[in-house]
Amino acid sequence: MRKTNLMKASVIPGYGDADSFELIQLPVPDVKAGEVLIRVAYAGINPADWKYREGLLAQHVNIQFPGVLGNDVSGVVVEVGEGVTRFTPGDKVFAFTNISKGGLGAYAEYTAVDEDRIALVPEEVSLKSAAVIPTAALTSWQNLLRKDRGNLQAGQKVLINGGSGGLGSYAVQFAKWAGAEVAATCGSSNQDYVQSLGADLVIDYRKQNISGELAKWALEGVDIILDTVGTKSLPDALSMIKKGGRLVSIPTMDADMDDDVAGDIAEAASLGISKIFDFCTLETCGKDFSLIISLLAEGKITDPMIETFSIDEVCDAHKKQEEGHVQGKLVLEIAGETIT
Ligand SMILES: NC(=O)c1ccc[n+]([C@@H]2O[C@H](COP(=O)([O-])OP(=O)(O)OC[C@H]3O[C@@H](n4cnc5c(N)ncnc54)[C@H](OP(=O)(O)O)[C@@H]3O)[C@@H](O)[C@H]2O)c1
Repeated sequence: MRKTNLMKASVIPGYGDADSFELIQLPVPDVKAGEVLIRVAYAGINPADWKYREGLLAQHVNIQFPGVLGNDVSGVVVEVGEGVTRFTPGDKVFAFTNISKGGLGAYAEYTAVDEDRIALVPEEVSLKSAAVIPTAALTSWQNLLRKDRGNLQAGQKVLINGGSGGLGSYAVQFAKWAGAEVAATCGSSNQDYVQSLGADLVIDYRKQNISGELAKWALEGVDIILDTVGTKSLPDALSMIKKGGRLVSIPTMDADMDDDVAGDIAEAASLGISKIFDFCTLETCGKDFSLIISLLAEGKITDPMIETFSIDEVCDAHKKQEEGHVQGKLVLEIAGETIT
């Protein structure tokens, strides 16, 4: 049962900088058919959050102001809407919020989410661990493993460009779990971290020549590159991939990083390489979440490094995320692990 009709929420009054957050009272959202009302324990933070805040994603997502940001949530179910069959009040869950379709995000005490975007959190996994999964792990999972994206197979060689960030911390582990040999790039201070995630070869993008190091490791080129940083960070990517291989680039929605997508796809095709440039897919993402969290529960993957901020520190968390050098993930603690 919900305990109140009003809730605390950290909101932005309009598009703006990290200092524009305000802690205010908002009505607890109504639960529509097919939705689940979640009392929020943690809100995972992603680069998308500062991009929403600054209006860079305004063409794709309609934020209703005052805007409650946050793709990623974990917490406890308090109410279910008509037609919901898979969840009941008291369940511990995590989800990708309805922010992507104009609903509320996670930086509040409650949020209402479509049932098919939610999965249960098993006993072995903390709510904090679950909160950082949705955007980063889902994007890595789908883009490495789906047949129409990376289609990564056991025995293949893959380069993860950006192995120490949110996406990379999961991608390195998913690729090892799938039986691949894994090279990953990161800066000098993250070398040990990325090795601890299981990478077979760690390349310092600040000090080493990436294509040179990779050529020694994969004489004929790698089967797949998963680029989590942006096309312009790896201008010679195509020269590092075998004919018949795949270059999967995660859209950063930053024109300075994504470059000429149509031109890049055509150039790759002329070399016999498939270039894939796609968003994470949210339809029925709850099924992917269940698989991913079972790997964590079974100890087949581990948590990324997680740094925790209180809701009053949301501005600091956004500044840190926007600088682009987070190790692992950032999370906002709302009700925390002892939520009821
Ligand atoms: N379109 C979609 O569906 C979608 C979904 C999810 C994410 N994304 C986008 O994907 C990108 C990555 O997301 P994320 O959550 O992984 O970001 P993140 O956590 O902020 O990534 C930070 C990491 O990137 C590393 N890095 C920065 N520049 C690098 C370079 N030139 N080479 C190698 N590593 C570098 C940093 O390592 P150092 O500190 O060592 O430099 C840091 O560990 C973001 O642009 C995000 O918006 C898109």
